[in-house]
Amino acid sequence: MASSDQTRLLLVEDVPQVAQYIRGLLNSQSTVKLLDVLEDGAKVVAQAQQLRPDVILVDALLQGRVKGPQLVEQLRASGLRVPVIVLTVPQNPVEADPDRGIHGVLAMPFSGFDLMNRIATARKEFATISTTGASRIFSVFAPKGGVGKTTLAFNLAVAIGQLDQRTVLIDGSLQFGDLRALLKVPVDAPSILDLPTDRVAESDLQDVLWRDPSGIDILLAPPRVEMAEMITTRDVDKVLSLLRRVYGAIVIDMSSVLNDINLAFLDLSDTIIEIVTYDSTTIHNTVAVADAFRMIGYPASKVRYLVNRADSSGGIDPTDLERAIGRVPEHKVVSDGILVVQSNNEGVPFVLANPAAAISQDVARVAQEVLAVHGLRPVPVAARR
Ligand SMILES: Nc1ncnc2c1ncn2[C@@H]1O[C@H](COP(=O)(O)OP(=O)(O)OP(=O)(O)O)[C@@H](O)[C@H]1O
Ligand SMILES: [Mg+2]
Repeated sequence: MASSDQTRLLLVEDVPQVAQYIRGLLNSQSTVKLLDVLEDGAKVVAQAQQLRPDVILVDALLQGRVKGPQLVEQLRASGLRVPVIVLTVPQNPVEADPDRGIHGVLAMPFSGFDLMNRIATARKEFATISTTGASRIFSVFAPKGGVGKTTLAFNLAVAIGQLDQRTVLIDGSLQFGDLRALLKVPVDAPSILDLPTDRVAESDLQDVLWRDPSGIDILLAPPRVEMAEMITTRDVDKVLSLLRRVYGAIVIDMSSVLNDINLAFLDLSDTIIEIVTYDSTTIHNTVAVADAFRMIGYPASKVRYLVNRADSSGGIDPTDLERAIGRVPEHKVVSDGILVVQSNNEGVPFVLANPAAAISQDVARVAQEVLAVHGLRPVPVAARR
């Protein structure tokens, strides 16, 4: 496990002597871990998505297809949300400007002390910027199984991540670990159970989260059914408060029961995205859950209904659903059997595999709308109905 304040650094440097000098400075200490040295600017965004560094150091004079300043801009626009320090020479002055993705500048020559100091400051300042922004918890719930919770939670999390929110997806389906199956994660991949039970620190997350190639981080469920019982409601509280400090958006894929664990997830959610479909059992259960939520004291606005497979009414009049829930559902997502099955089989989100498909556009719109509810991002005019 990483020590609590270890910083994971990615260096982008095409001058071997400079890379070697920095390696040398970092060799004698353990607070900064050098993950890799990349020479080709064109590969950095993809590599950073895989490696998930805490800080990236970029040579302003980087040559090649993607030059230094261009790379800094690419990293800013990538939604990775990693502080970038630009390495330069006095003849090429660069100014720190977080709005342009430059969170620190280091001019040569510099000492080991300067390097460590700049890295620590950039990371700390960036964390402050990130956490002063509001963090929101969205649980994807349904009172009936098999209605698309896992599929939609995964794609919604990726779509929210695309909107520049640092996003984590929690596999709250603790017994069966639906996301493990969907993403074909190895059995020994760490899970929520691997988080220390006391004094959980931000750095512990590094060892426990699954870095999905889709760009989001995932907190997996335990690998075996019986292990779900080891998670307590206190663990849920701790995990969510920790994730809130690091992520702009937390999406939870839930199971279909109202037990203590699920109520802990729901209590702490800012918005419950409740999936409904046009079938009579779902409608019946949705009404029962609405009663339960009312008794618990959740305001009606905490729930937003999402009709999944909204284009296949299965013989049910959509107004029956509206009458039952007492309002028009806030969101609709169409069916797309071929794309959903194909993407789920490959463990990739359809919002990335085929962003132009109607189902992907629907999910992207849900992402914009749920963020807009919390003032996190205005809904673009084109997305309004
Ligand atoms: N909009 C959609 N279009 C086509 N197929 C869909 C759609 N949404 C979900 N599905 C399919 O429905 C099935 C169930 O989806 P999923 O596993 O996401 O549901 P769930 O609610 O998480 O189930 P569980 O209750 O078992 O956790 C999957 O086979 C998925 O491919
Ligand atoms: Mg599921």
